[in-house]
Amino acid sequence: MSSIIVKGSNKLEGEISIQGSKNSILPILAATILCKGECVIHSCPKLSDVEVSIKILNYLGCTVEREEDTLIINTNNINRYDIPNDLMREMRSSIVFLGSIISRFKKARLSFPGGCELGPRPIDIHLKSLRQMGIDIIENHGILECEACDGLIATKLSLSFPSVGATENVMLAAVNARGTTIITNCAREPEICDLADYLNKCGAKICGAGEGTIIIEGVKELHGTEHKVIPDRIVASTFMSAVGAVGGDVVLKNVVPHHFESVSSVFKEAGAMLKVKNDSIRIKVPQQLNSISTIRTTPYPGFPTDAQALLMAVMSVSKGTTVFIENIFENRYKHVGELLKLGANINVEGRVAVVKGKKRLSGAFVEAYDLRGSASLLIAGLAADGVTEISDTSYIDRGYENIENMLNSIGGLVKRI
Ligand code: UD1
Repeated sequence: MSSIIVKGSNKLEGEISIQGSKNSILPILAATILCKGECVIHSCPKLSDVEVSIKILNYLGCTVEREEDTLIINTNNINRYDIPNDLMREMRSSIVFLGSIISRFKKARLSFPGGCELGPRPIDIHLKSLRQMGIDIIENHGILECEACDGLIATKLSLSFPSVGATENVMLAAVNARGTTIITNCAREPEICDLADYLNKCGAKICGAGEGTIIIEGVKELHGTEHKVIPDRIVASTFMSAVGAVGGDVVLKNVVPHHFESVSSVFKEAGAMLKVKNDSIRIKVPQQLNSISTIRTTPYPGFPTDAQALLMAVMSVSKGTTVFIENIFENRYKHVGELLKLGANINVEGRVAVVKGKKRLSGAFVEAYDLRGSASLLIAGLAADGVTEISDTSYIDRGYENIENMLNSIGGLVKRI
């Protein structure tokens, strides 16, 4: 098992280009199952979650070739409608294959997805919505046996919470359903729009993505296409956070600034200087940032839960006190215990964390428990005197391609051992 060693830095300077969005790639790879012919997907970084999706596609009978950051997928020989338990358990978003498998085969057999590191992550909204579309789903000892004997039926659905994964699953199931599906209270994340853009290029008829109601007119068949995945707004937020914690002047290229405006505005409020262009953002942090009174995570366009741990590392070295309220996941503060080992001053009570900032942290051995938590430890390590060792890089590798090289290219001192 490898670890990451990080030495405290004083400032980060330079330019970096942001990778394609993991949370876009995963549903788009699942969506390729619906397309006859070849799909060419650009901007797919080498991430372990992407590799799991490729393994699932291979298992189903698809071919996937990689040429640098482009994936070429051919689903002509797809011949299975099940996903084995070991692949389902490797990542939670494997559940997004359900919508596309059932849409293509009218049958699907898979187990409950893994990934419980953020507390209980039920899939009741996915299952309720798919059942409303005429799918019989039997839950049998952890296995989901799904069948739509009369095909998928378009209907009007209202999600009890704007779940990202459930919205994606319904979109995937609905593109080939008979009639028009209307999803209200759906997720509005940029990754939903990217999935809709991709599916529309393949011949689907989806409108309203990015708004509270999505309307999908079922079509008979989808064809292959070429698509470039949107930039990863959480990776962009991670590098902003690194600069926010240690100071410096960095240009983030290949970004869509309005996708992470809720995060940039927090940095602005804290005293960072931002220069926003069409596809880049420059962050300049000449001195210790100020605290923010309250940071509440909410569905998009609110402050993303995926950036909560990142900002907590930044606020641990800010001037003043910041209150975090985590509204999306029940148990998303596992990084707090590790930040405390680095000398941070944080108190957690249920969904609330109170962070009292200090000038610097101090290096220690810390453990990674989840993807964004690992990134927050890396940021905190950059803002700590001495050396920090973060155990187990498997979490960070799920969402960041070569994070150590990226940070080193702007002046970080990070290595993998
Ligand atoms: C996606 C993102 C993840 C992000 C999250 C929230 C991907 C691959 N992952 O995860 O990075 O943190 O959105 O922005 O895109 N819920 C239920 N029942 C359900 C579904 C969800 O209770 O059937 C709850 C979850 O437990 C959670 C909340 O709804 O508390 C949000 O979950 P959801 O939006 O579904 O997140 P994911 O799609 O899993």
